[in-house]
Amino acid sequence: MTESRDPPYPELKKTHTMAHVGRPWTDFKPPAAAPVWAAIEGLARYYVLVAALELDFFDTLQATGPKTVDVIAKHLDVSEPHLQALLDSLVALELLEQFQDVYDLNDAARRYLTSDGAATMADLIPVAPGPHENWTRLADTIRNGTPATPIEDDPAAFYVPLVEGTFTTIWRAASRADFKIRYSALDAPKVLDLGAGGAPWSIAVLQACPEATSIVNDLAGVIDVAKRRTAEFDVVDRCEFREGNFHTIDLEDDHFDIVVLGHICRTEGPEGARNLIERSYASLKPEGRLILADYFVDFERKFNPHAVLMGMTMMTSTVNGFPISSEQVTDWMRAAGFEALRLIEPIGFQFCYVATKPAAS
Ligand SMILES: C[S@@+](CC[C@H](N)C(=O)[O-])C[C@H]1O[C@@H](n2cnc3c(N)ncnc32)[C@H](O)[C@@H]1O
Repeated sequence: MTESRDPPYPELKKTHTMAHVGRPWTDFKPPAAAPVWAAIEGLARYYVLVAALELDFFDTLQATGPKTVDVIAKHLDVSEPHLQALLDSLVALELLEQFQDVYDLNDAARRYLTSDGAATMADLIPVAPGPHENWTRLADTIRNGTPATPIEDDPAAFYVPLVEGTFTTIWRAASRADFKIRYSALDAPKVLDLGAGGAPWSIAVLQACPEATSIVNDLAGVIDVAKRRTAEFDVVDRCEFREGNFHTIDLEDDHFDIVVLGHICRTEGPEGARNLIERSYASLKPEGRLILADYFVDFERKFNPHAVLMGMTMMTSTVNGFPISSEQVTDWMRAAGFEALRLIEPIGFQFCYVATKPAAS
């Protein structure tokens, strides 16, 4: 046996120590394979959840109450043994409760996976990773430095379902941000919301400030989502919709109290993100504030795996997308002239930098 080989029974080594049972075979303890299995199971975990949503499982179980698999299979009109495997997997993922043979929603499923859950992510889950086929071609993307089918080829096709899916989460974050930055204390703030999606930030500010107005920007096709959502929240009359590319649309100088760059910088590349920050600075009034929401990786790019993987998701499906770091963003904001930088987390996993344009001297 060469030295680099495992001993015949490496798993024995974990407990078979001198202290317990005498002299071990060898001092070498192989590392556990758990991180490898976790990666392999990642695909299964995701598609189990996507299938359960596609089958309308969570809403159905909410309507029926706790049930055994045969009853649920009849409701969904699906194969009982196959459903059993799916439900047991959901239990393994801690997204479903099981008592003997009865399945019931747990609190996480009720909150995040039913379509009327208080923090529903049901519409977000299928679209959040971007086009699924781009993940199967990731090695090619890394070889070529660009994805085969970037979402920029047809932005509305990708962004309309995405911004519908993210709306509830971002609107909750935007509404909660008021506890940290008190935009509701402003008299009649003027808001500029670039790449607004369904306009969750504009809606939150306009709800909190009856005299507020907002310029809502997005691309043709996507901006219709903002028009519909602002109408649903009864703030559409205080919005002006400015369709077009946020790098080139006309913007007023020294005009706005709040500029929002909500989850748009990490798809733009360093040059594009910088340009958006500089445009925001120019369009803010003195003492106006920039809100820049994103997923920020840390200095060493290893302490926030969620942000690292979000950056990876951007790279997988966009031309310029990249993981965006706190260091980069704060450098760009300071270079543009911003001061009093703060990082807030209005709800879990949602981070925003808030930065102020200095008062006129
Ligand atoms: C991840 S979504 C964020 C939506 C919203 N700001 C939020 O925080 O929920 C990115 C948005 O930017 C828009 N967008 C992307 N490129 C754009 C461009 N060049 N000009 C204007 N909007 C753009 C997309 O259509 C999409 O609505």
